[in-house]
Amino acid sequence: MQPNPTLLISPDEIAATVVRLSTLIDQDYAGQELVLVGVLKGSFVFLADLMRQLQTPVVRVEFIRLSSYGAGTVSSGSVAVQATVDPAIVSGKHVLVVEDIVDTGRSTTKALALLQDMQPASLQMVALLDKPERRELPVTIDYLGMTIPDRFIVGYGIDWDEKYRQLPGIYAVD
Ligand code: PRP
Repeated sequence: MQPNPTLLISPDEIAATVVRLSTLIDQDYAGQELVLVGVLKGSFVFLADLMRQLQTPVVRVEFIRLSSYGAGTVSSGSVAVQATVDPAIVSGKHVLVVEDIVDTGRSTTKALALLQDMQPASLQMVALLDKPERRELPVTIDYLGMTIPDRFIVGYGIDWDEKYRQLPGIYAVD
């Protein structure tokens, strides 16, 4: 880790945010069942915590894996699908996409387009974090935890060269 990482969001703040988001989701999905689709890898910690707060029955947990090409470019980045979901699982279901962070918006846009093609009954997304300064594609975040500045962050599932996902808080390392 770089010297002097800055704690941006404490584990307690994350936990309170997860409770707030789960309450909102439960209100909106009252009487329904949910399929959660996490976008690997970064979302797995958030998804695990969120799922355990939800009262809404989660009838299926799935994951998709995307990979970015053209990282560092402004306009030529595209997203490839490395692992997807069986369309039969999504069709006719209420689907909630779970993201750790929305940055350029490319991953979320790809994930939503991919799942929309599978004809869910409804499709929404929850993101723990949003970095709006970095946005390249417009994204509607139905349930948002926190907006953060454009800093390099790690922890709570988010990596730096695959490391530091295990940290219980979120740190800025720039
Ligand atoms: C991160 C994060 C989001 C995506 C957001 O994943 O987990 O899925 O980037 O960025 P975007 O809005 O610019 O698309 P990353 O590609 O770093 O992979 P990882 O989750 O496996 O670490």
